[in-house]
Amino acid sequence: DWTMGSFIEEQIALIKKQVGDKKVICGLSGGVDSSVAAVLVHKAIGDQLTCIYVDHGFMRKNESEEVKETFIGKFGMNLDFVDAEERFLSKLAGITEPEEKRKIIGEQFIRVFEEEASKFGDSEFLVQGTLYPDIVESGTDTAAVIKSHHNVGGLPEDMKFELIEPLKNLYKDEVREVGKELGLPEAIVQRQPFPGPGLAIRIIGDLTKEKLDILRDADAIIRHEISSADLEETVWQYFGVLPTIKSVGVMGDERTYAYPIVLRAVTSEDAMTADWARLPYELLEKISNRIVNEVNHVNRVVYDITPKPPGTIEWE
Ligand code: XMP
Repeated sequence: DWTMGSFIEEQIALIKKQVGDKKVICGLSGGVDSSVAAVLVHKAIGDQLTCIYVDHGFMRKNESEEVKETFIGKFGMNLDFVDAEERFLSKLAGITEPEEKRKIIGEQFIRVFEEEASKFGDSEFLVQGTLYPDIVESGTDTAAVIKSHHNVGGLPEDMKFELIEPLKNLYKDEVREVGKELGLPEAIVQRQPFPGPGLAIRIIGDLTKEKLDILRDADAIIRHEISSADLEETVWQYFGVLPTIKSVGVMGDERTYAYPIVLRAVTSEDAMTADWARLPYELLEKISNRIVNEVNHVNRVVYDITPKPPGTIEWE
């Protein structure tokens, strides 16, 4: 007989009891789980909570700004916003191999987080947005679960915090309901899965600020058009990929030599298998037209029609 209201009240009481007058930190990723966990804990203990958001520079258009607006603006929470874009870009300069990218991003993420967390050395608790399936899948005791499966939010095991995991008995759809009840914006509550390393693994090959900006602009068009067509809930993930190749095109009287954008949109239940989404031709046409007309350095849009397997959802 799970009801939202009673769940929230119950958790608030439990968190208050667990924390007392101590200080708490929380790593915010912009995703559903950490956002809902943070707001719930804030509701319980207010200013005793500080959230840390590490912006690695690979978020989608406006996403980091929305985090600021939501957590500082709307909820008035203590948010330590860390702009680490330069640091990540310099560590990744020239790196092209996908797993090497992930490794560097994961390591840097932990380092930056640790550096920030040390500024709040008087904190004894750490909030984690662990869900029930995370625990079941890992088959271990809750306290030991630090989502590591290619999740950038993972923390080193030697960090001395006691964990607060208010969502650990919930499934994803329940977490979304709680988030809605707590007043989190739709953009966060309904957010499609987004990989920890973000756009860094959607730019094939080496990363530059220019390529990130191109992909961000194209991706924003893709997201806008799919949501305008009301397909957000039918399509599991939808995004752009920027391969590092150029092809010839023509624009007006000019020959162009520019990047293609790969549109990837898939249906799936759990990301283990997936199929390419049968998007309406009119929608594909609109996305293609808008991207080639509005995004500089792009002269071609292609649609990835590969299921998983044998393709993966991401390109790296
Ligand atoms: P693939 O590409 O393996 O992706 O079919 C399956 C799901 O996992 C997500 N994904 C990641 N998530 N860090 C993450 O947090 C990663 O490095 C990563 N790589 C893939 C992907 O978006 C899809 O939902």
